Amino acid sequence: MRQKKRVAIIPGDGIGPEVIAEAVRAMQASGADVELTHFDWSANRYLADAVTVPPDGFAMLERDFDAILLGAFGDPRVPSNIHAKEILLGMRFKMDLYANLRPVRLLDASLCPLKGVEPSDIDFVVVRENTEGVYVDAGGVFKQGTPDEVAVQEDINTRKGVERVVRYAFEYCERHKKQDGSPRRQVLMCDKSNAMTHAGGLWQRVFKEVSREYPQITPQHMYVDALCTQMVRDPRQFDVIVTNNMFGDIITDLAAGLQGGLGMAASGNIHPGKTSMFEPVHGSAPPIAGKNVANPLGAILTSAMMLAHLGLTQEADEIEAAVLEAVRQRKTTQDVGGSLGTHEAGEWVAKRVAR
Ligand code: NAD
Ligand code: IPM
Ligand code: MN
Repeated sequence: MRQKKRVAIIPGDGIGPEVIAEAVRAMQASGADVELTHFDWSANRYLADAVTVPPDGFAMLERDFDAILLGAFGDPRVPSNIHAKEILLGMRFKMDLYANLRPVRLLDASLCPLKGVEPSDIDFVVVRENTEGVYVDAGGVFKQGTPDEVAVQEDINTRKGVERVVRYAFEYCERHKKQDGSPRRQVLMCDKSNAMTHAGGLWQRVFKEVSREYPQITPQHMYVDALCTQMVRDPRQFDVIVTNNMFGDIITDLAAGLQGGLGMAASGNIHPGKTSMFEPVHGSAPPIAGKNVANPLGAILTSAMMLAHLGLTQEADEIEAAVLEAVRQRKTTQDVGGSLGTHEAGEWVAKRVAR
């Protein structure tokens, strides 16, 4: 059996390369037995030779790699955002990475904008459907440029797609404990079935059916608007949340706010048993790119999530412990209370990991 795990690194645009360099540094400091191969898929590459994803790029990733670490995509020089669509959404869709797992964990009380909240109060995960919904981009524009213009953006929900992601959420709940070692007990499905009755109806039926297979887990439901208030008023109540592609995108930026901001949030795009992709939740943040101010901790935590997924749990734990210590000692960038640059914050974590 092959021991060394093969990881494709695609830093992308803006702050992507800056934070991914620090994630790589942390992985190397951990001594993880990984072989890293860098790819230049990005706005720069697209502007140079019009290539977004090289021919057979996704097949190559699936064949030759155990996991993929991505930075972020989005560049003001590419207003159509075509490269981001083809690389990022292309990877999620074409590699069928149907579960977007976004853990929401508060590492230190100082990072949370809410009063009186402790780290043990915020420890939930969002399982976002990642291959359907409005992101399919089905629809079109009719009579463009006239007063009668019509734009249609269809929300595609298949029974197979909904069922597998809902089941993933229940399986996750059953198999994963909270940080304090206590079991996870509830899966909450979030939708807008009071207004979007067709799609919501399917999600409701599937959720009820699948929940019966897990009698030890409490099924719950909230409309997405109500959930947004609850997430701010009482985040303690959440455990595992499963939702569609669009709502999952929105509520995880809100949830990142609870964790200290976008610079802290990690994610995995997973198809169990297949090559999966890991990326921080944040984007390319053009205004702060190239200034050595972006927070690398979200990307570093993402690399730990990837190592854990690859079975390198000890290395993952070491990286997470170092990040926790960095936050506690404020050896961080300014957005989370420190005074270090991207590179220096990454270096601090790497040194701590290597001890
Ligand atoms: P963004 O996440 O890039 O930035 C939003 C805000 O958060 C900015 O104020 C930025 O300064 C701050 N921020 C983000 N990451 C940070 C970090 N690591 N450290 C400190 N501050 C950080 O979102 P946006 O501004 O809406 O989008 C910018 C571009 O990124 C767009 O092209 C968008 O499409 C793209 N985007 C890409 C991804 C991805 O590739 N996964 C995700 C989101 C947005
Ligand atoms: C994310 C991003 C992407 C999404 C964008 C860049 C298309 O916001 O990964 O959260 O909406 O999925
Ligand atoms: Mn997003």
